[in-house]
Amino acid sequence: MRVLGIETSCDETGVALYDTERGLAADALYSQVAMHAEYGGVVPELASRDHTRRLLPLIQQVLDEAGVARGELDAIAYTAGPGLVGALMVGASTAHGMARALDIPVLGVHHMEGHLLAPMLENAPPGFPFVALLVSGGHTQLVEVHGLGRYTLLGESVDDAAGEAFDKAAKMLGLDYPGGPHVARLAEAGDPGRFRFPRPMTDRPGLDFSFSGLKTHTLTTLRQLEAEGALDGAAQADVARAFEDAVVDTLVIKCRRALDQTGLKRLVVAGGVSANIRLREGLAHECAKRHARAYYPRGRFCTDNGAMIAYVGARRLQAGEHDETGIMKAVPRWP
Ligand code: KG4
Ligand code: ZN
Repeated sequence: MRVLGIETSCDETGVALYDTERGLAADALYSQVAMHAEYGGVVPELASRDHTRRLLPLIQQVLDEAGVARGELDAIAYTAGPGLVGALMVGASTAHGMARALDIPVLGVHHMEGHLLAPMLENAPPGFPFVALLVSGGHTQLVEVHGLGRYTLLGESVDDAAGEAFDKAAKMLGLDYPGGPHVARLAEAGDPGRFRFPRPMTDRPGLDFSFSGLKTHTLTTLRQLEAEGALDGAAQADVARAFEDAVVDTLVIKCRRALDQTGLKRLVVAGGVSANIRLREGLAHECAKRHARAYYPRGRFCTDNGAMIAYVGARRLQAGEHDETGIMKAVPRWP
């Protein structure tokens, strides 16, 4: 079965074709990051308009690359939420329009289920069950994954997501959006011993996270340095390092707990922050101690993409699922 996947929940237009026989046949991405960078964050109206401009040409590109005609598609999957409502509507209406015209099933997919199963697109995919750490700009969650559609939420952020915290810290440090990679680069030059930021919610049991306090801590530290006339490039790098160490340590501690609590030996890490090198090093260390293994999607599937949506759509279609034609789903907040 050939399933076209469409992702338009935020600032990336992603399209891919997943073939249940051949695997991923083609994928393409158009990132709006440069357009939003000048505003320091995603501007929803600009995002929707740009998806409208990019989506149909990207779909054609993917079909051409895969050598598949529209008439040969078996289903269309799209991100139905969570995300920016206008952006979601572009993908949803395109998917429903195409599905109606081609008279094939359509499936609205949960964006986080896409991230969760993205490592399944790799050569040696993890078997079920596994623990998943989802760390993106909008979510920080630990999930026990028993099988397709069978997920138990173990813990999540009670305030800011880890990626959001990186983006806010970056802004305070005068770095561009999205901030994660910039903070990580600046932190490389930082002295890990100069400042120590707290590891929120690690002093009590449980698997929830809280990152908004680190934002305040970063701001207070920067203000103090400024008042002392000591806010130079080196100090900024030291703050970036302290911030990154605190976020990474917190994530690693909670993953360790989740593995111990569930007794599982497989850890899937996905979402934009999973690209962070220090996080990967920390998790590799913990996994090695437990004879556990960490699984990541390839670099470009760590962040938003169409391949993960096509994959989930294909698996759900195989499981006999699809949505009612003509009932578009665009769910901005979807637990
Ligand atoms: O999954 P994603 O592309 O989009 C959402 O669904 O949110 O994640 C984007 C987030 C941004 O907050 C970005 O700053 C963060 O992932 N990010 C990183 C790194 N690369 C991306 N955070 C820390 N270190 C990185 N290397
Ligand atoms: Zn995402």
